[in-house]
Amino acid sequence: MNLDAFPRIALFDAPTPIQRLERIEAALGLSGARLFVKRDDLMGLGGGGNKLRKLEFLLGAAIEQGCDTFVTTGARQSNHARLSAAAAARMGLAAELMLTDTVPREDPAYLHNGNQLLDGLFGATVHHLPRGTDALAAAHARAEVLTAEGRKPYVVGSGGSSPVGALGYASCAREIQAQEAELGVRFGTVTVANGSHGTHAGLAAGIDDPRRVLSFTVLAELAEAERGTLALANETRALIGGTALEAEDIRIDGSQRGEAYGIPTEAMLAAVRLMARAEGLLIDPVYSGKAFAGVLAGLREGWLRGDVLFVMTGGTPGLYAYQPAFS
Ligand SMILES: Cc1ncc(COP(=O)(O)O)c(C=O)c1O
Repeated sequence: MNLDAFPRIALFDAPTPIQRLERIEAALGLSGARLFVKRDDLMGLGGGGNKLRKLEFLLGAAIEQGCDTFVTTGARQSNHARLSAAAAARMGLAAELMLTDTVPREDPAYLHNGNQLLDGLFGATVHHLPRGTDALAAAHARAEVLTAEGRKPYVVGSGGSSPVGALGYASCAREIQAQEAELGVRFGTVTVANGSHGTHAGLAAGIDDPRRVLSFTVLAELAEAERGTLALANETRALIGGTALEAEDIRIDGSQRGEAYGIPTEAMLAAVRLMARAEGLLIDPVYSGKAFAGVLAGLREGWLRGDVLFVMTGGTPGLYAYQPAFS
């Protein structure tokens, strides 16, 4: 795997720390398992989170191609959109965000707080699209307008989950393996949320054994998440080398998605509260909250054992958009 061949910019200090959650272990009364977190929420730029790893490669490619405007898509409370705006600002590019009202919420917290507040603060131009719009097509249409105006846009779809974006998590896999060697630990399971698939796909493409990665889908239904993650993992492997992955190499759990993307579940609310009250750590309600609920279920029910790593992916501005769910 040669990641050095790809243009990349530095957006955070690596490696992000790995920490053990002994108070949650005690609260669960664990004996055959230890729980660790990888703090990908601890990045200084724009509030931090997993999307900065993808943006290191995406903006690296955009800048190498001479682009001056980063155009991307997402839900109204997209963390990827917020971090695209922050990273573009840092690199001196304009950001245009094509945001769809995917989640049926019209309260002020959802419409205006959290990531929405920050998108504006970072100076992005925000376009709101009605539910059901093909956001990527709208992004390409916007890029044509920008090109006609003499600008040079770089377009990437939701979550930054192109093969180039997924390189960020292939690199993270390498980082985790180096930390395992330092800590004298080997994680039997590396757990993470799965939205647009790039985080799981990149980890699976870059790690020594892809079956160590287990994600919890929060957006697509299980079969679609499995299909999309495998396809993206193999497109990423096509860039960095390595044999093609098989369907059995991609492990995804569909039990935590609930009614739909962005709709709270009781298990998510309990997981966010436990993390806050036992460890003083924040996880977001849309992605890591649901994924961590799955990790807690696995530890309680005993199907997650040994040393388990949960990748904390940031997204905590989303908590402010979900104030009604927590009150
Ligand atoms: C905070 C957070 N965690 C996890 C994810 C999931 O990552 P991916 O879209 O690569 O599956 C996202 C995606 O938007 C996110 O914002």
